[in-house]
Amino acid sequence: MSVLHRLRLFFVLLGSGFLILGQSTFAVEDSNPALLTMSSIGDAKIGRTIFDKECSKCHTTIQNQHKKGASLYGIFGKKSGQIVGYEKTSQEMKEAAIIWNTKNLDLFIERPSQLIKDQKMKYKGISDQKSRKDLIAYLASIK
Ligand code: HEC
Repeated sequence: MSVLHRLRLFFVLLGSGFLILGQSTFAVEDSNPALLTMSSIGDAKIGRTIFDKECSKCHTTIQNQHKKGASLYGIFGKKSGQIVGYEKTSQEMKEAAIIWNTKNLDLFIERPSQLIKDQKMKYKGISDQKSRKDLIAYLASIK
């Protein structure tokens, strides 16, 4: 094989390598919603500081440790109003029966009553979208 031939082969192989790499990255993200959440939604580390500042007065992220609000351990992917051992859940929260996915958490954290009317969380909400995304990434990481 001539040098030119080898060089050409090298670049062809390199190119297809990138192609495969690119496709498999997509495949992993598409088939794994948790990964998608973590990578493309927000920064969980920043989210933790937001949680401490905004939510920790009433919630912990420790399993079964409830305050005025329920423990938010493993909340991502759960159905609303079903937290075991938390007695203060409102009828409205139970009847809403929504899944705490990215979309619903985002709406709820932005302004709790816009998603579930007459629920009992007395909280004004977070208007900054980036902060909500970071906070959701943090919540999704606790399980
Ligand atoms: C002043 C106290 C208070 C603050 C601050 C607060 N919450 Fe709550 N939260 C509650 C109460 C009380 C409920 C129960 C509401 C109900 O059942 O109607 C609740 C419910 C929830 C639920 C639904 C849980 C379920 O039963 O499915 C989520 C999710 C939640 N809070 C997230 C947050 C997040 C995230 C923050 C911070 C941005 C926050 N809360 C701040 C008191 C609070």
